[in-house]
Amino acid sequence: MTTGEQMTTKDTTPAPLVELDGVSKFYGNIRALDDVSLVVNAGQISCVLGDNGAGKSTLIKIIAGLHQHDAGRFAIEGEETRLSNPRDALNRGIATVYQDLAVVPLMPVWRNFFLGSEPTKGTGPFKRLDVELMRRTTHEELARMGIDLRDVDQPIGTLSGGERQCVAIARAVYFGAKVLVLDEPTAALGVKQSGVVLKYVAAARDAGLGVVLITHNPHHAYLVGDRFVLLKRGAMFGSHSRDDITLDELTRQMAGGSELDDLRHELERAPVPTHLGGHTADGAEK
Ligand SMILES: Nc1ncnc2c1ncn2[C@@H]1O[C@H](COP(=O)(O)OP(=O)(O)O)[C@@H](O)[C@H]1O
Ligand SMILES: [Mg+2]
Repeated sequence: MTTGEQMTTKDTTPAPLVELDGVSKFYGNIRALDDVSLVVNAGQISCVLGDNGAGKSTLIKIIAGLHQHDAGRFAIEGEETRLSNPRDALNRGIATVYQDLAVVPLMPVWRNFFLGSEPTKGTGPFKRLDVELMRRTTHEELARMGIDLRDVDQPIGTLSGGERQCVAIARAVYFGAKVLVLDEPTAALGVKQSGVVLKYVAAARDAGLGVVLITHNPHHAYLVGDRFVLLKRGAMFGSHSRDDITLDELTRQMAGGSELDDLRHELERAPVPTHLGGHTADGAEK
């Protein structure tokens, strides 16, 4: 949809929370993103899939206000935007959870939950951190997301990677984010912990947030995703809504799709040597 259409129709559907339209980004001569489009709606999960170097983190950094795009259109709630820094993104309701979470491992969970936004009580020389409020709120908010921590006083470093991701998600929801951006939240996790994290990603969606989920795992994406954008070497090679792609097809495309089919044909043509112990083509031992 072009901006012109949006203005002339009496369509009452709200503009997407975030929309990238034909966005490109260069690092010097390297084209990290080339003509990429992405829509993020409230109450939906948009997945961005791609291998290493595909441009996933670059895409996130534009949405998070760390980098600016060089071409194309970036709009927040229908308004064309150029974010100048991460604080700017946060003020516009965009919260980003990076893979290497910015937490202070030795500080309690509640302290990390409020890091940088600590509530105080009292005034003047009597002003101090409202520790009780932070403890109680952290416990309540985590419980509301279905996370039952025995003790919010334990250092966040003692939590598992999955639990820490969940705390970061609960934090974004509590501080009123409209858009939650997650950079490979399940990459370092096993199956069970990945499942737990995906459950909280779904909980954030159910709370009405628009979620951008970056992953290279089509299974994780398909468990929760509403739409899927596939990146390869900075370019988009697929953009699908859930209705028009199956898990099998998504997996096939992520595995290399047609490239893999070509490779299979080539391998089928080459006869497999019968003497696998040999180093030479005719199978003779040295
Ligand atoms: N700051 C940078 N300077 C130069 N090149 C970069 C920088 N960041 C990323 N790149 C390059 O841009 C491309 C996309 O990288 P990135 O967005 O990190 O991909 P992904 O997150 O999908 O692995 C890669 O070729 C990478 O080497
Ligand atoms: Mg990356």
